[in-house]
Amino acid sequence: MGEYKAIQNDDREEAVIKDGAVKRGLSCSLVAVFFIAILTSLIFLVIWVIANPPVVNPAPVPCDDPCVVILAESMPLNLTFPDGSPRFQSTYAIWKELLATAKETIDISSYYWTLRGKDIFNDTSDFEGEEIFKELMAAGTTRNISIRIVENKPSHYIADLDTKELAAKGAAQVQSLDFNKLMGGGILHTKFWVVDKKHLYLGSANMDYRALTQVKEIGVGIFNCSCLAQDLDKLFEVYWYLGNQTTVPPKWPEEFATVYNLETPMQLKLNGTNATAFIGSSPPAFCPSGRTSDIDGLLNVVESAQKFVYIAVMDYIPEKEFANPMEYWNVIDAKLREVAFNHHVNVRVMGSIWNHTSSDMIVFLRSLAELGTTGRFNIQAKLFCVPAYTPVEHEMPYARVNHNKYMVTDNAAYIGTSNWSGTYFTLTGGASLVVNQTLAQMETNATTLQHQLAQLFERDWNSIHATPVLSNVKCM
Ligand SMILES: *[C@@H]1O[C@H](CO)[C@@H](O)[C@H](O)[C@H]1NC(C)=O
Ligand SMILES: *[C@@H]1O[C@H](CO)[C@@H](O)[C@H](O)[C@H]1NC(C)=O
Ligand SMILES: *[C@@H]1O[C@H](CO)[C@@H](O)[C@H](O)[C@H]1NC(C)=O
Ligand SMILES: *[C@@H]1O[C@H](CO)[C@@H](O)[C@H](O)[C@H]1NC(C)=O
Ligand SMILES: *[C@@H]1O[C@H](CO)[C@@H](O)[C@H](O)[C@H]1NC(C)=O
Ligand SMILES: *[C@@H]1O[C@H](CO)[C@@H](O)[C@H](O)[C@H]1NC(C)=O
Ligand SMILES: *[C@@H]1O[C@H](CO)[C@@H](O)[C@H](O)[C@H]1NC(C)=O
Ligand SMILES: *[C@@H]1O[C@H](CO)[C@@H](O)[C@H](O)[C@H]1NC(C)=O
Ligand SMILES: *[C@@H]1O[C@H](CO)[C@@H](O)[C@H](O)[C@H]1NC(C)=O
Ligand SMILES: *[C@@H]1O[C@H](CO)[C@@H](O)[C@H](O)[C@H]1NC(C)=O
Ligand SMILES: *[C@@H]1O[C@H](CO)[C@@H](O)[C@H](O)[C@H]1NC(C)=O
Repeated sequence: MGEYKAIQNDDREEAVIKDGAVKRGLSCSLVAVFFIAILTSLIFLVIWVIANPPVVNPAPVPCDDPCVVILAESMPLNLTFPDGSPRFQSTYAIWKELLATAKETIDISSYYWTLRGKDIFNDTSDFEGEEIFKELMAAGTTRNISIRIVENKPSHYIADLDTKELAAKGAAQVQSLDFNKLMGGGILHTKFWVVDKKHLYLGSANMDYRALTQVKEIGVGIFNCSCLAQDLDKLFEVYWYLGNQTTVPPKWPEEFATVYNLETPMQLKLNGTNATAFIGSSPPAFCPSGRTSDIDGLLNVVESAQKFVYIAVMDYIPEKEFANPMEYWNVIDAKLREVAFNHHVNVRVMGSIWNHTSSDMIVFLRSLAELGTTGRFNIQAKLFCVPAYTPVEHEMPYARVNHNKYMVTDNAAYIGTSNWSGTYFTLTGGASLVVNQTLAQMETNATTLQHQLAQLFERDWNSIHATPVLSNVKCM
């Protein structure tokens, strides 16, 4: 400070004397060298900052969009709950609304496509899927809407004839992601829509007619919400970009970065009620700067709970089940045990039972439930069965299952697209939305997503379709 002032005043002598140097000449050049060194480091610092913008972004500005959030579920035909049970809008209604609202663009991220019965299993219950396919075709051909679709690379048993036809008729551009090339395994399992960069759907429903009428699904439709839709579209752009690549870039270009994440969530209003939200992504290699990984977002929701953690997920397996040899993966399981032990949180896990349920999942859930029987930990586990009531429902392949992938706690809602097992968080493409309306819930009596999701969970958990895993569970 003194030196700087001295040089400025061109009064080097004074500076030298002050600093107690013996030889005037030497001190002078020392000062000059020091000054040049500082200047050079400053220049390098500026260059470095320009080349590497800081990862920690300033707190994002709150979003003013009049976002409307609608919980969406698919209810398999003939599956019933007692009169007066909570019911929510159908996935079909949300997709129809998205199609009707679309003006310019529809971006869909998907696993596989079988909207039409003829491609998988002929049945009249395909009518909703047929309708969605027809409307997509019309949107892309006669309504001048630009449709982009990313899907997992088709295989010999999933041909994706829907997207082949949409592309052939010029209705959509389609990119197929080859995870064997990109990640050495895994699949694109993400399911979401972004319409006009303003509206979105995210949830468990595949682009499959069975996901509308034969499989139980949970998702969310959000309308008039550019801020959230644009952030989700950044994830779509990640997939779209990878469609032309053979490897995942070690460092993602800045244009894919986001400022909304676990540390600095988006502040917005959902149905006029204050909320914070962010979108997580799997695998971590698909997370550009600022994007929280799906697993980190999920673990934080569990960790933040103070009263309860309710989980409904098709598969809950603490394994990297597709690794060869298979590996133990206890990241989520350990966290659940930890919050039950240390924070006395009530943990409920509802897995799904059907003809293809892994026996490992049942024993791992039993192990959780056994802890609950000691009376010292508040942990329970159940299995939800979607029965087949008709001969056709019995014959239909890979239908009649609770395909939900969500969690609700006393202070957040998590809606995802991944099974809760290792490779879904390390290799496979997935996405999740975490919404927090806890403050608003305490201050007003407004309905929140958390509130609705908890109602939905309790309806299912307390129904005749859910059976404690420690009993003799059957699903027909
Ligand atoms: C199943 O649902 C269909 C369509 O709602 C209905 O026509 C049929 O009678 C139901 N069948 C059974 C066995 O519940
Ligand atoms: C559905 O029926 C059509 C017409 O009969 C037939 O061409 C098609 O192969 C059938 N699809 C399946 C999956 O059985
Ligand atoms: C179709 O959409 C594009 C892009 O939104 C627009 O530039 C073009 O004018 C539209 N064409 C017609 C015929 O509406
Ligand atoms: C979105 O905003 C438009 C225009 O204000 C309105 O007509 C529409 O009903 C809104 N959508 C929803 C789902 O609320
Ligand atoms: C990327 O893929 C799309 C669709 O397959 C193709 O049309 C386009 O030409 C490709 N772009 C590059 C740069 O390879
Ligand atoms: C909603 O958030 C805004 C901005 O953070 C705050 O000023 C306002 O008081 C909050 N409203 C309620 C009802 O909590
Ligand atoms: C949600 O917000 C509340 C209040 O700000 C906070 O205490 C809680 O930890 C948050 N939940 C999560 C999962 O971050
Ligand atoms: C499950 O498998 C059994 C035996 O193969 C079969 O009888 C039953 O119909 C199947 N159930 C469903 C829902 O597919
Ligand atoms: C996970 O979910 C998919 C469908 O979303 C299902 O087909 C699959 O069997 C599930 N389990 C595992 C371990 O992959
Ligand atoms: C919320 O509802 C309860 C019971 O209906 C009522 O006692 C309370 O005053 C309400 N709180 C607010 C902030 O409206
Ligand atoms: C938001 O508003 C929509 C339309 O009015 C309603 O269907 C939905 O249940 C509301 N969502 C919440 C979380 O209150």
